[in-house]
Amino acid sequence: MTAQPGSELSGRELATQIRATTAARAAELAAAGRPPRLAVVTATDDEASASYVRSIASAAARVGVACDVLRTSTANGISATLAQLADDPEVQGVILQTPLPDGAGLADLATAIPPEKDVDGASPASLGRLAAGLPAFPPATAEAVLALLDHYQVELRGRHAVVVGRSVVVGKPAAHLLLDRHATVTICHSRTPDLPAITRQADVLVVATGRASLIGPEHVSPGTTVVDVGTNATPDGLAGDVHPAVAAVAAALTPVPGGVGPVTTALLLRHVVEATAMAG
Ligand SMILES: NC(=O)c1ccc[n+]([C@@H]2O[C@H](COP(=O)([O-])OP(=O)(O)OC[C@H]3O[C@@H](n4cnc5c(N)ncnc54)[C@H](OP(=O)(O)O)[C@@H]3O)[C@@H](O)[C@H]2O)c1
Repeated sequence: MTAQPGSELSGRELATQIRATTAARAAELAAAGRPPRLAVVTATDDEASASYVRSIASAAARVGVACDVLRTSTANGISATLAQLADDPEVQGVILQTPLPDGAGLADLATAIPPEKDVDGASPASLGRLAAGLPAFPPATAEAVLALLDHYQVELRGRHAVVVGRSVVVGKPAAHLLLDRHATVTICHSRTPDLPAITRQADVLVVATGRASLIGPEHVSPGTTVVDVGTNATPDGLAGDVHPAVAAVAAALTPVPGGVGPVTTALLLRHVVEATAMAG
């Protein structure tokens, strides 16, 4: 599918396609006595996080991936649970849900997830492998950005991709994936002076800041394809990091909700099925 000027790059059709192939592969593995199984480790009462975990569990059920949600409340509890899951041959995919208990770091705790089970690319080993061009599961959100751009046949080779946000889970891995596709990549963050002067140079603009409507029409040039990763709870409902008025300027824009989000969940489950197939 090709992006048309001013078009909305919905993720729903792509997510449906990914779920269909994932469900077929999951059924084959289950028939061969190797049912795919995901474990989600969570240590938070945060309602947004709980709702995300429920959505993963119900999406998993729809594609035939078993999903266990394991609750604990401390960093030690997380470490012990992850260590058990690392050795459990029945579990092929492990996710550590954020937010974490005070003082606990995702990268630190996620070192206990072996790369072959790290289906959301959370451990430093996975990020290092990604950066080194070695096989690894990328964080599903970063991969979803690329999957959407590919789905709409957005050219990346030799184009200028600007990523706003440098988190380990989205911004940095998305930048690596764009580099691998021969884009010229600029990464911006909260200390970047004159953000609009840089984002206006983008052929492809990827925004992952967690700041509702940070990016306005003044940040975007005509012809730019904009991928909005942000999911922000506002009094008016879920909002992206990109103001809706950008749609009038940009060549194309992903919606929130319905853009990166559904593709992320679909890819996460595809990773679990791939991990099961590779577990042999
Ligand atoms: N759709 C999905 O499936 C999905 C999945 C994961 C995350 N998300 C969403 O994506 C967004 C980002 O998540 P995250 O985990 O990457 O967030 P994060 O860890 O808080 O990182 C935010 C990044 O944005 C940068 N930033 C913040 N304010 C900025 C500003 N005014 N100008 C330029 N850069 C700014 C920060 O810069 P510094 O490094 O300088 O602080 C940081 O690098 C959130 O809305 C999150 O909910 C969506």
